[in-house]
Amino acid sequence: QHGYLTYDPGFMATASCSSQITYIDGDEGLLYYRGYPIEQLAEHADFVEVSYLLIFGELPTPEQKQAFEHGVRRHTMLHDQVNNVFRGFRRDAHPMAVMVGVTGALSAFYHDAMDAFDVHSREISAYRLMAKVPTIAATSYKYNMGQPFAYPQNHLGYAENFLYMMFSTPCEPYVVNPVLARALDKILILHADHEQNASTSTVRLAGSSGANPFACVAAGMASLWGPLHGGANEAVLKMLEEIGDVSRIPEFVERAKDRTNPFRLMGFGHRIYKNMDPRAAVMRQACHEVLDELNLNDDPLFKIAIELEKIALQDEYFIAKKLYPNVDFYSGIVFRALGIPTTMFTAIFAMARTVGWVAQWNEMLSDKGHRIGRPRQQYTGVARRDYVPIDKRG
Ligand code: SDX
Repeated sequence: QHGYLTYDPGFMATASCSSQITYIDGDEGLLYYRGYPIEQLAEHADFVEVSYLLIFGELPTPEQKQAFEHGVRRHTMLHDQVNNVFRGFRRDAHPMAVMVGVTGALSAFYHDAMDAFDVHSREISAYRLMAKVPTIAATSYKYNMGQPFAYPQNHLGYAENFLYMMFSTPCEPYVVNPVLARALDKILILHADHEQNASTSTVRLAGSSGANPFACVAAGMASLWGPLHGGANEAVLKMLEEIGDVSRIPEFVERAKDRTNPFRLMGFGHRIYKNMDPRAAVMRQACHEVLDELNLNDDPLFKIAIELEKIALQDEYFIAKKLYPNVDFYSGIVFRALGIPTTMFTAIFAMARTVGWVAQWNEMLSDKGHRIGRPRQQYTGVARRDYVPIDKRG
């Protein structure tokens, strides 16, 4: 120990809070949003309905859903000045870097809703964040591509509008494929919330001081971008492309078991799930549906993914460590089939998770007994000692 503060990762990982939003049973592989199993919500609900459920605690009536949808739609456009913020980035900036920057910049725009401790101010920030993050994500892509920014189309559904803003150009009509929009909507539901993961804990801790919600969500985006968290879907596709052929799968499985090298199977393992991540099973089904719709069933990467899952699930190391596919394992293949570039995979994860971050941020600040977050540490540095003049050192 040379005076550096170190901490016990296990201790940090156990810091916890109480919440009524999402329930996970990692051993049983269960995930419930406000008590509803994720499988049922993905099958029967749409993302706007699930967003209402996460934020307000109940599934909306038709009237409540219509009012909520209207409340979101009226905020989908970005302030024209914000478009200048995009132009401060290099064209080849990663969309997540642009999203962090532009979302953070929005904290300078809405002086009518700066009080995070006021419930009405929180509600308008919730609408603005849910409405504007898809526009920011799609505009980050357009900026990357050197194409004109597409305005949101408020008559379209949430996922439909995002695909429109991503792929439409002024040169010709663009009609969103409803099967693909429904698949994306389902994926957004799967990614909406996941209790106290790294990025949600980031938003909660930043927001606990009453900080501006746009700045807090930008911090959450920064955490999600990490390759061990939301950046894993991009890493999964790169790994499948590196494997290249089912015959090379055993080589990669062996590499992932070798504790002397940092390589891990991307899309596998989870701090909480010691069983199949229920989202991965729904994602695999969405994969089949999209590949069927696009006649891409012989997609080589999908074949490698299916075979890799089969081999890993039969391997005694993975069984002993309880390593199963997680939500990121199949999402990259679906996004790629939807024509979404790998650099946008985490941006879509961030779009969905913005609703979870907002719901958890709002829940925290609605608590009458709320106090600023202050994680404690276990000090494992050197004991007290006296100063040594520089000519006496060495
Ligand atoms: C997400 O927290 C959330 O809820 C996150 C998330 C959400 O919705 O917000 O679910 C989204 O981030 C999903 C995870 C995406 N990341 C990846 O797919 C990257 C690959 N996975 C690993 O890096 C890892 O599994 C983590 C980061 C996800 C979890 O890491 P942990 O908490 O260290 O895993 P663990 O403690 O359960 O690991 C147990 C053992 C360890 O070995 P030992 O130290 O005991 O010898 O299994 C090993 C790990 O090294 N291990 C793996 C592995 N994942 C864990 N070995 C090989 N390949 C892997 N993928």
